[in-house]
Amino acid sequence: MNDDALGLDEAYSVKTPEDNKRLYAKWAATYDSSFVDAKQYRYPKAISEVFDQVVTDSLSRVLDIGTGTGLTGMYLSRLRPDVVLDGMDISPEMLGQAKLKTRTDNSAVYRKLYERDLTRAVPNENAPYEALISSGTFTHGHLGPECLRNLLPLLANNGWLVVGVNNEHFESKGFAGELDALVALGAIKAPEILRIDVYEPGSVHYGDQARVIVTRAIS
Ligand SMILES: C[S@@+](CC[C@H](N)C(=O)[O-])C[C@H]1O[C@@H](n2cnc3c(N)ncnc32)[C@H](O)[C@@H]1O
Repeated sequence: MNDDALGLDEAYSVKTPEDNKRLYAKWAATYDSSFVDAKQYRYPKAISEVFDQVVTDSLSRVLDIGTGTGLTGMYLSRLRPDVVLDGMDISPEMLGQAKLKTRTDNSAVYRKLYERDLTRAVPNENAPYEALISSGTFTHGHLGPECLRNLLPLLANNGWLVVGVNNEHFESKGFAGELDALVALGAIKAPEILRIDVYEPGSVHYGDQARVIVTRAIS
């Protein structure tokens, strides 16, 4: 497959963590130019803006789930320059790109980046985070609703979860049911579900939306 051919069709056709590793190993170097810029993908920026609006506390440490090339962290660092950001992703090649992203003062966006498969229990060498943010990673063949349970131990009590989920994936995989179950278990507060545009007007994909789960962990 030629790099130029990589895009949503390939991203939505993966099924396993190994498929994801293979896809993003090939895509990492051109993801920002051939996809984000070419398709006017605004998801990382939009999630960061939602995060900045809904999370009213001043936070010190936030974890970016499915960091990719680091665009969510880059936008969040512009809105919350004092926040320390770490990232987790299954793809070392995508994390290699994220490592290069810089803040407006030219320092690195991320303090630490960790290679982790988020479909499993997630080892965390740090104190629990005050918030998790995620864009583009809860989608077809990537992370399903059951993975939310893997993320909760990463959060401090009252920690924020601001997680984008592909619209069709949200419906077809039953995210609402899993959120209800987590509320019933006393693991999270009743979530607010927002909607955002994933692409800018003018993009061939304009009109695609994502849900954004906004809730807080209880532990
Ligand atoms: C579409 S990209 C989104 C990246 C970035 N957040 C953005 O919005 O540009 C999806 C990311 O999910 C990661 N991913 C897929 N499956 C994963 C898994 N099982 N565990 C951790 N990360 C995974 C991929 O490596 C990829 O970087």
